[in-house]
Amino acid sequence: MKKALVTGGAGFIGRWLVKKLLNEGIDVWVVDNLENGCKENLNEFKNDSKLRDVVFADILDVPKLQSLFTDKPDIVFHLAAQINVHESLENPGKSYLSNIQGTYNVLEACRPNLTKLMLMGTCMVYDVADSKGAITENHPVKPASPYAGSKLGAEVLAESYFHGYGLPLITCRPFNTYGPFQKNNMEGGVVSIFVKKELDGEELQIFGDGTQTRDLLYVEDCVEFLFKAANNEKAIGQIINAGLGEDVAIKDLAAMVCSDPNRIKYVTHHHPQSEIQKLLCDYSKAKSMLDWKPQTDLKTGIQKIRQWFQSQPDLG
Ligand SMILES: NC(=O)c1ccc[n+]([C@@H]2O[C@H](COP(=O)([O-])OP(=O)(O)OC[C@H]3O[C@@H](n4cnc5c(N)ncnc54)[C@H](O)[C@@H]3O)[C@@H](O)[C@H]2O)c1
Repeated sequence: MKKALVTGGAGFIGRWLVKKLLNEGIDVWVVDNLENGCKENLNEFKNDSKLRDVVFADILDVPKLQSLFTDKPDIVFHLAAQINVHESLENPGKSYLSNIQGTYNVLEACRPNLTKLMLMGTCMVYDVADSKGAITENHPVKPASPYAGSKLGAEVLAESYFHGYGLPLITCRPFNTYGPFQKNNMEGGVVSIFVKKELDGEELQIFGDGTQTRDLLYVEDCVEFLFKAANNEKAIGQIINAGLGEDVAIKDLAAMVCSDPNRIKYVTHHHPQSEIQKLLCDYSKAKSMLDWKPQTDLKTGIQKIRQWFQSQPDLG
């Protein structure tokens, strides 16, 4: 792999992936419409000559997207997506356009040269983990929001290009990913939101009773997983999970972040019908196929995100 195009490269996971690729000496192109990403996420690399081009455009803009294939990338990491579950329930058309139509555009741009595609899936496509154990790639799917449905639809469409055209495709399904640069509003992750509220002396809000669990993956572990999958021929045609392999109830996460129970408040869930009560990853396939396992436990990850927030000027 010498040349990589990252869609959604100005977003949270995207900017960490760009950093990893540049560190590995790979030439990188980025496309992002800045809907949820920002230019500042790429500031650290602005003088890196290996960051060949950053195009602020929508993947629905076909001519602009196709222009990024002029230099013939060896691989496309397709991360651009509408990621907000709540917003997807309010406006499913937006999820459809960015996540399905957008993925179709990326697939069509990859098709002429059979450009390798690493498709970013998500654990949110899975049905709840049962008490018997963790979620493997064979676990039943149950998309409970237009976000999950559109991500699953994108996967199925991409799989048809793998079978129908021989497009080299790798589908990665990371579990909930957190770390520095993640937004701390509703478009961000729960760890970021809790840590920022704690630092600001505000209340931490839990939707519902807080017994719902998440398997939380630190972002650099996530990116290492994507990189290893992209570099392994055995991963082609595969769906692969990555997570910590441990789940935590949201109420326990809140207590880990904030030692004052009076600052933890329970509020009515926005969309209980789309909640997945238990998410726990079985990453044994990633371990055996890619020799990957997570390196950062939750306590360390929380410390890293806290330190990052404290280093940001707006916290004073
Ligand atoms: N954060 C998680 O917990 C998590 C877990 C599993 C999978 N994912 C997937 O990882 C990917 C990245 O997620 P993230 O958490 O970094 O979110 P993010 O919102 O920070 O990143 C997505 C980026 O895509 C851009 N984008 C959105 N629609 C676009 C469009 N139509 N054209 C061009 N750019 C567009 C956004 O501006 C943003 O920068 C997504 O595909 C998401 O579904 C995220």
